[in-house]
Amino acid sequence: MILKDYLKERGAAVDKALDRYLPKATVKPPTIHKAMRYSLFAGGKRLRPILTLAAAEAAGGDYKAALPLAAAVECVHTYSLIHDDLPCMDNDDYRRGRLTNHKVFGEAIAILAGDALLTQAFEIIASEAAGTPRYPVATLVRELAHAAGSRYLIAGQVADLEGEGKKISLKELRFIHECKTAALLTCAIRLGGMSANATPAKLKALTDFGQALGLAFQVIDDILDVTQTSEKLGKSAGKDVAAQKATYPSLLGLEKSRKEAQRLTHAALAALKPFGKKGDTLRAIAEYLLQRDY
Ligand code: IPE
Ligand code: IPE
Ligand code: MG
Ligand code: MG
Ligand code: MG
Repeated sequence: MILKDYLKERGAAVDKALDRYLPKATVKPPTIHKAMRYSLFAGGKRLRPILTLAAAEAAGGDYKAALPLAAAVECVHTYSLIHDDLPCMDNDDYRRGRLTNHKVFGEAIAILAGDALLTQAFEIIASEAAGTPRYPVATLVRELAHAAGSRYLIAGQVADLEGEGKKISLKELRFIHECKTAALLTCAIRLGGMSANATPAKLKALTDFGQALGLAFQVIDDILDVTQTSEKLGKSAGKDVAAQKATYPSLLGLEKSRKEAQRLTHAALAALKPFGKKGDTLRAIAEYLLQRDY
C-alpha cells in the first residue's frame, strides 16, 4: 500500500475506534464530553496511533489488536496538547486548525478535558486491550503511565517551561525533547510491538527506532515553527522565538538543525534492519516526517 493510502486508512480506523471508546457528546454533563471531542476530532495527523498500528504490523501482528492502545496514546497526546496550549503554559490560540480548547470552552473546562482524556486512556487499555503472553495488560498500562508521567512527558514540559529565556546546553535541550516528545512517541511504537507479542530483540529495535524518530520529530517541529506559516501548521508559527523557548534552531541554527534531523532519521531507519521488508511502512513514515520540512 502506498504511504498516503496507509495513513488515510489507518487514520480512519483510529478515528472510528476513538469515537467508539469515548462517551458521546450528549452524555451528562455534555460540556466536558463536547470539549474532549472538540480537540480529539480537530484533525490531528494521528501520527502516534498510526505508528502503534504500523509497529504492530512490523512485528507480525494484526493492527486491529493494537487499536485500543493506539486510541489510548492519542488520548494522552491530545490531553498534553490541550494543557500545553493553556495561558499558563505556551499560551496558544490555535491548534489543529481551530481555536484552542480553552479559547472555546474556558480554562477550567480545558483543564478538565485534558484530565478526562488522560484518564480515559487508561480506561481504554484496561477494558479494551487484550494483552499477550509476554505483555499482559498491567505491562501495557505501566508502559503508558511511565511515558506520560513525571520522569518523561511531564519532566520535559517542566524543563521546557523552566528553559524559557535561558541559554541552556545542547545536552539539556536534548533532555527536554526526549522527555516531552520522544518518550510518548517511543511508547506508541513499543505498545504496537507489545500488542504483537514482539520478542525482546524486536522490542529493543522498535525502542531504538522510536527514540531516534521521536527526537527527530521534535527537532523538525522546532524547525517548522520558524520556517512555516500558521495556516500550514494549523497552529501559531513563530511562537518559540516570541516565548524565548530553547529550541534546536535557537541553539544550533536552521542548517545544523536540519542536519541533525536527517542524522536522527537515518539512525531511526538503521534500527529497523531486523524487520526486513516488514519494516517498510515504518521506514516510509520516518522518511515522510523528514520531508515535512521542505
Ligand atoms: C504536536 O504534535 C506536539 C509535538 C510534540 C511537537 P503533532 O505535530 O503530532 O500534532 P497533531 O497531533 O498532528 O495535532
Ligand atoms: C509540545 O511541544 C510537547 C507536548 C505537548 C508534550 P511544543 O510546545 O513545541 O508543541 P507545539 O509546537 O505547541 O505543538
Ligand atoms: Mg510546549
Ligand atoms: Mg506548545
Ligand atoms: Mg513546537
